[in-house]
Amino acid sequence: MRKRFVISFLAGCTMTVLAACSPGEQAEPAVTETAQESVETENSGETETEETAAEPGEMDETPGAGGDALVVYFSWSGNTRSVAEEIEAQTGADVFEIVPAEPYTDDYDTLLEIAQEEQAAEARPEIADSVENWEDYEVIYLGYPNWWGDMPMILYSFLDSYDLSGKTVAPFVTSGGSGFSGTIGTIESLEPGAEVLEGLSLGSSQAAQPEEAVAQWLEELGLN
Ligand SMILES: Cc1cc2nc3c(=O)[nH]c(=O)nc-3n(C[C@H](O)[C@H](O)[C@H](O)COP(=O)(O)O)c2cc1C
Repeated sequence: MRKRFVISFLAGCTMTVLAACSPGEQAEPAVTETAQESVETENSGETETEETAAEPGEMDETPGAGGDALVVYFSWSGNTRSVAEEIEAQTGADVFEIVPAEPYTDDYDTLLEIAQEEQAAEARPEIADSVENWEDYEVIYLGYPNWWGDMPMILYSFLDSYDLSGKTVAPFVTSGGSGFSGTIGTIESLEPGAEVLEGLSLGSSQAAQPEEAVAQWLEELGLN
């Protein structure tokens, strides 16, 4: 899967589609039909969701909903942000965006190189801000784009900085077709004291309209 992506990704990089990948847009990644077809679609079916919101004045005891949950995400071109905001909307969780202290380039081709260099160097890019009241959160929705078959290195910075022992982690990824690659296993090995749940993987184009996939995922996990 990864090899196939890399080939199509590199092929795509030489084409004009890269113009659609500037930050802040819902970028269409540089992928071919083959890679798009391979996007995991298991969460894209129709979903009926039950209304679980608490009545006014009533505490919502659902784990993962409301004040005990935090959405932590990194996003360069907006796809993962779109999913993060949908999780926030459906759960009422707080949100922490991982923002690099030194902003990444706006140029897609340059970013591809930088990301690869960071990976090779096992870099730990500095995060601009920090999470307040970390100990209050029981459920962490952890989202990131797939970068070269791995998490962006700034996710490693985050996992190095925060202890997730005793917390429940619900990972979500957006990608051009590779899905999580091996990253759930990586999170499990970096955070052995955390319970890592089944993740949500969306293709870049699915990320623009994540409502149903998010609702179904949360329901399956019992988090909403
Ligand atoms: C540096 C870089 C490396 C990427 N590597 C992969 C990859 O290995 N596999 C893949 O499927 N998509 C890859 N992509 C595509 C992104 O995972 C995809 O566009 C994602 O939705 C971007 O999320 P964002 O908009 O939240 O930044 C890469 C994108 C970038 C910028």
